[in-house]
Amino acid sequence: MTAETVSDAETVSDSETVSDAEAVRERALASLVTARERTTLLTTCVDGPELTAQHSPLMSPLVWDLAHIGNQEEQWLLRAVAGQEAIRPEIDSLYDAFEHPRAERPSLPLLSPKEAHRYAAEVRGRALDVLEKAAFHGTRLTEAGFAFGMIAQHEQQHDETMLITHQLRRGPQALTAPDPGPVPLFTGPAEVLVPGGPFTMGTSTEPWALDNERPAHRREVAPFWIDTTPVTNAAYQAFIEDGGYDEPRWWTAAGWAHVRRASLTAPLFWRRDGGQWLRRRFGVTEVVPPDEPVLHVCWYEADAYARWAGRRLPTEAEWEKAARHDPATGRSTRYPWGDADPTPEHANLGQRHLRPAPAGGYPAGASPLGVRQLIGDVWEWTASDFLPYPGFRAFPYKEYSEVFFGPEYKVLRGGSFAVDPVACRGTFRNWDHPIRRQIFSGFRTARDASRETS
Ligand SMILES: [Fe+2]
Repeated sequence: MTAETVSDAETVSDSETVSDAEAVRERALASLVTARERTTLLTTCVDGPELTAQHSPLMSPLVWDLAHIGNQEEQWLLRAVAGQEAIRPEIDSLYDAFEHPRAERPSLPLLSPKEAHRYAAEVRGRALDVLEKAAFHGTRLTEAGFAFGMIAQHEQQHDETMLITHQLRRGPQALTAPDPGPVPLFTGPAEVLVPGGPFTMGTSTEPWALDNERPAHRREVAPFWIDTTPVTNAAYQAFIEDGGYDEPRWWTAAGWAHVRRASLTAPLFWRRDGGQWLRRRFGVTEVVPPDEPVLHVCWYEADAYARWAGRRLPTEAEWEKAARHDPATGRSTRYPWGDADPTPEHANLGQRHLRPAPAGGYPAGASPLGVRQLIGDVWEWTASDFLPYPGFRAFPYKEYSEVFFGPEYKVLRGGSFAVDPVACRGTFRNWDHPIRRQIFSGFRTARDASRETS
């Protein structure tokens, strides 16, 4: 594969019209308000002891996420953008994610739920004052409202983390949401041919894109076939019934060692009950729905399934080409359906539902080639390690992405039902260890097409 930086894609203007500035202010305000409504829901639907408890060693107590959200907002919007003094400098280190791994956070002298709510609210009040007077040019941090967008995305990402904690939590149901509307059984082609050739990967123009999505660059991709929809529970059950978890030949060496060590036999939260599979979902036990994309599988499981199916996981570049490349124009669009922001017709995003929609849903969100549900529903594991793009520059801090680059992390794409639109784009990159499956992760598969088309 070759990659080169696109030199003419980036145009950062330091002049802006009044209406541009007001549009940025409005978008920033709406994004912060939406995020806070969700944070409030996730931290008030259970009582104080539930907020301070650690529901899994993989996760922080919910009250840590709440105060951490406030602390990051204080550090970036109040101190870095507005130059204000620290409100409570003594708590910074408690809420530094790098200083304290999740397992040790419950033993820290954290703010109580009441104090954490009060602190986050005080920071937000001051942040909205800063936003009201902000000029969105002059520094990279304030250009096009980046810092406000970054903080809204950060809060939404912790909301997704808190939703994972809710899923791991034992006890009665605390959250409810309507199910996605019924989806007619998908009868279209099972896979789509994506033509070979170069396309533009990443972005240099999306104002709130994070450092790891930048810069836009050309990427050469050989022709390949990709699944039209994510892999379903029914398809995954066929892998289980065929003895997939007992056959080392489907697994990488590391995957096989892990599946034996961790005694994996099915996706997380599944259990067999006689002749059927049940799953636990936000406090409710239910029959695993056959048509829904499979959820809560790790990278090793996704990779083994693909090999069993005679296929492979798509690379990150293949996934992005399938999601963004418009063969009619040769352009890369922001989303599979074009450049418009997501609406409820396009994708299952924003915790509107507490589950993915059945495979084949959201026809309005399909790519020009007809690939569906690339955005929303389930995060999709790709074959690729998390690596910087050519020309990457860490911004605004090294710990955002740079320290995670390398073979320890695999890239996930496309967002899930738990991801807000503000933190979801055709270029957005997520990453995690290949053993992780408490996240809202599924996958689709691909295969080479070069032999048939050359
Ligand atoms: Fe964070």
